[in-house]
Amino acid sequence: METSQRIMPNILVTGTPGVGKSTVCEQLAERTGLEWLEVGKIAKDCECFEEFDEVYQCPVLDEDKLIDELEDKMAQGGNIVDYHGCDFFPERWFDIVFVLRTNNTVLYDRLTHRGYTGKKLEDNVQCEIFQTILEEAQAAYKPDIVHQLPSNTADDMEENLDKITAWVEQWKMRASS
Ligand SMILES: Nc1ncnc2c1ncn2[C@@H]1O[C@H](COP(=O)(O)OP(=O)(O)O)[C@@H](O)[C@H]1O
Ligand SMILES: [Mg+2]
Repeated sequence: METSQRIMPNILVTGTPGVGKSTVCEQLAERTGLEWLEVGKIAKDCECFEEFDEVYQCPVLDEDKLIDELEDKMAQGGNIVDYHGCDFFPERWFDIVFVLRTNNTVLYDRLTHRGYTGKKLEDNVQCEIFQTILEEAQAAYKPDIVHQLPSNTADDMEENLDKITAWVEQWKMRASS
């Protein structure tokens, strides 16, 4: 389905684990009325997993199954997709992509607090330092719809919420005019 046929936009919020995706998405859903789709949770509910990654001690996502699961919802529009990867989603799903970014020392503390240690902790912090997800998003979507947002402080979050909410309002006005 073409973007123009949706009456509500679809937003992707992505970034390294711990940058604040779920925190911002939950509040965004409240403010905008869009539905927050936390991909990790949905994958668990629909058993969209292939095998178990022994190194990272986590299951590996069955991307095709997950896409089938979400397709109808995405075609309707009005979703905020929250995931730490972005290059396997169909490009047509999204009207805008936000990549949250966090300073490595701040991220280190957040992930330690979450209980990450050793290789899992190091790899995730490195992922942010090397801006892996940003580059993944820039390669997978048109550059003009990909936006980086700082996500270090509570003020950052407020600003991000205001920006994204304003964008949604504008999108809705354009769609109805
Ligand atoms: N902008 C922010 N400023 C300060 N703390 C934040 C911010 N965003 C998220 N956090 C905190 O960081 C931790 C990770 O946030 P979370 O939303 O779970 O990240 P993600 O969903 O990207 O893994 C949580 O404890 C959350 O309260
Ligand atoms: Mg999360």
